[in-house]
This record gives sequence, C-alpha cells and structure tokens, in this order.
Amino acid sequence: MTSTIRILSIETSCDETGVSIVEYDKNTQEYKIIADSLNSQIEIHKEFGGVFPMMAKREHGNNLTGLLTSCLRMLPSSDMSSVEAENINLELLTREKELTEKVKDELENTNSPLLTIPNIDYIAVTRGPGLEPALWVGLSFAKFLSQLWQKPLLPINHMEGHISSVLMGADKVEFPTLALLISGGHTELVDVESWGSYNIIGKTRDDAVGEAYDKVARILDMSYPGGPLVAGKAQKLRDTFLESDIQIMKDTYSIKLPRPMIHSQDLDLSFSGLKTAVLYLVRDIKKKQDLTEEIIDLICHEFENSVSEVLLSKLKFAHKSGNYKYKNLIVAGGVIANQFLRENLEAWSILNGIHFLKPEKFLATDNAVMIALAAIVGLNNEYVQIINPSDKEFTELAPDGDWSLNTI
Ligand code: KG4
Ligand code: ZN
Repeated sequence: MTSTIRILSIETSCDETGVSIVEYDKNTQEYKIIADSLNSQIEIHKEFGGVFPMMAKREHGNNLTGLLTSCLRMLPSSDMSSVEAENINLELLTREKELTEKVKDELENTNSPLLTIPNIDYIAVTRGPGLEPALWVGLSFAKFLSQLWQKPLLPINHMEGHISSVLMGADKVEFPTLALLISGGHTELVDVESWGSYNIIGKTRDDAVGEAYDKVARILDMSYPGGPLVAGKAQKLRDTFLESDIQIMKDTYSIKLPRPMIHSQDLDLSFSGLKTAVLYLVRDIKKKQDLTEEIIDLICHEFENSVSEVLLSKLKFAHKSGNYKYKNLIVAGGVIANQFLRENLEAWSILNGIHFLKPEKFLATDNAVMIALAAIVGLNNEYVQIINPSDKEFTELAPDGDWSLNTI
C-alpha cells in the first residue's frame, strides 16, 4: 500500500480562487505542496468597496480552469491514462456559464491535462461556509472533475481549513486546543477537543473583525480591503511615537472608542458598535475641523487597540472558564496577517504557558492549500465524507453557505 495521499483541492468561498495539490507522507507525517495557484479578485471588488457575490462567481468561473491546468502540469507524469469519453459530463456545470465555456475551450485542446487522469487520490472542495453563488462554482467544477477522472470527492469546511492551515511546517497540534478564527466573514472562538470535534464557544453577534476593519477603512476613505491599510496607519504611529505621546495626541482630539463586550461575562463578541462609534467620532471631528492624516492615523490606532483588548479579554475568559487547560492556541484567518494583533495574542499565549500556532503568512488569507490540509486531517482521522461519482450523495451534494464547525 502506498504511503502517500495526494489531494487536489479547490477553494472558491469568497473572493480568492484557489487550486492546489498537496501530498501527505504517512511515514514521515510531512505535508508537501506540489502545486499552488491562487487568483485574488481584490482589484475587481476594490471599485465597489466590498465583495459582490455574483461578480465573485463570474470570476471564479473564468479563472478555475487556468489555475487547475497550471497545477496539473506540476504533477509527475508516470502511470497516467486517458479519460473515458463517457465520463465527460458538461451537465454537471450547467449552472456555471463562464466555467462551461472555459472547460469546453480546454477540452478542444487534445493535449489538455484535463484529458489525462492525474496522479491524485482525492478531490477536496470547499462546501461552506461562504457565499453560495461562489461556492457553487468550485463545487460544480469538483463534481465535473470527480466524474471525469473517477476520483472520490471530499466536501470540506472552510473554517476547518483555516484551523488546519497551521499544520504546514508547524509542530504537531496538541489537544485540547483553543482556536480563535478571525477573518472577513467570521470571528469565532472554538474549543477543539480533537480533529473533527469542534465546539464554537463564542462568536460575534454582528460584524466579523476583518469586516469591521474594512468598514472603518471605508469610513476613513480608504480602499478595499481596508484591514492592511488601517493596520499600516496604526503601525506607523507606533513606530514613530511613544504610546504615552500617542495618548496625549488622542486626548487633544477626544479620540476614544469603546471596547465592546469587554466586561460581559461570556465569550460573545460584537464589532458593529465599534464601527458605528468610529462613524460618529469622524462626524463630530468634522464638525470642528478637517479630518487630517494625523487624526486618521490616531483613529486607526485607537480602533486597533480596542480590537486587540477585546480579543485578549475573550481569550482570558475562555482560558479561565474552560473545563481544562488548553495546550495550544491556534489563531487563524485573514486578520492574523496583522502584526500587532498577532504579537499581542502570541505574548499572552506564551505568558500563560500555551503553545501558540499560527499559519505561515501565505496561508493566512483564503487559499486552497488549507482545504487540502483539512481533507488530509479528515482522512487520517476517518471523519471526512468520501463521495464517489456513483453515490447517491454525489448528485445531492450542494454548498452550505452557513455550514458551522459544530456540525462537521
Ligand atoms: O480569511 P480571509 O482571507 O477571508 C475570509 O474568509 O473572510 O480574511 C480577509 C480579511 C479582510 O477583512 C481583510 O481586511 C483582513 O482579513 N485582513 C486584515 C489584515 N490583512 C487582511 N485585517 C487587519 N490587519 C491586516 N494586516
Ligand atoms: Zn477565510
């Protein structure tokens, strides 16, 4: 029996189109990225200040085939046989206009890598959570490929992908683990008893952290996605002034923002009020004077302090009130690209004797590698659903935009 598992994975839950091939060696327990293609739609959505689901869907449809073929070309070519003509079923792509056109074009090329059965064991695809029109594109494509190559399909939870993203190049995860997931769509505290056993113990009641960053950026006339821009302005102040001097500058303009739910004796979070507080603060300042660069930097700094303090207070509460002592803290999701938050969370973790795990930078924001990693974990621990093209579940398989980690 072969000692490696090779996964082709597809991610289309939001505004990144990702395809990757990841290999796992059961003997050495090492993961290796054979190919990784990612296309970000940020430039397209920038113009509109956020992600438009139907536009995201169209872009995924336009990009997937090219990303896939570039990945397939990275595969070792031994033992590959041609696909059976009867397995080319374009009906599986019926709801995807752009994708159908691209696949048809590709199939007209007799040298297309699509027409050779690749050296992979499974096709993993994000089934949710995310934007359903966007999820449909990846799922339809995965079904088409599964039928074409007669390879089993693995439906994967995007948030489990974020948790698993720390596996690449990291130490082993030890349980019980606490996971803090901070992205553009989610803010969740998850109690991870073991792989596949997730219990969401806290989450935002309204906006996600990344969403709050993006909305604050919009209020301050910055482009999308605003997270890195807001973070950059706050960091610029930190690099230039002492914290005590920054405080004096904030006092001059009465810049003070709330720390939402910091004292609520639970693990719930809320960021919508914080965003509204920024809106009112800007309105009040504008009544008296121009919104200068200095004031914008100070607001970004105050906003980021608020986010950091709130997240830390919830970690402390989870740590104090949990049934057991957590061995690891995993922090994942796009917002972990933020250096200030990452350093604060890591410092707290070390101080409390909890091993801190975060993804490598290129795996922090959405990507397909993390979907393959979650698939491997699900296979190794025998809980991931394995669907063959001949199974009844294959036809019924549909995205779940709200798929919770609790129901894996
Ligand atoms: O995980 P992700 O790529 O997509 C979702 O699944 O949502 O996260 C994207 C989010 C965006 O809201 C973006 O503004 C935020 O992550 N983000 C940041 C930073 N880099 C990305 N937020 C704060 N600071 C950053 N450096
Ligand atoms: Zn994500």
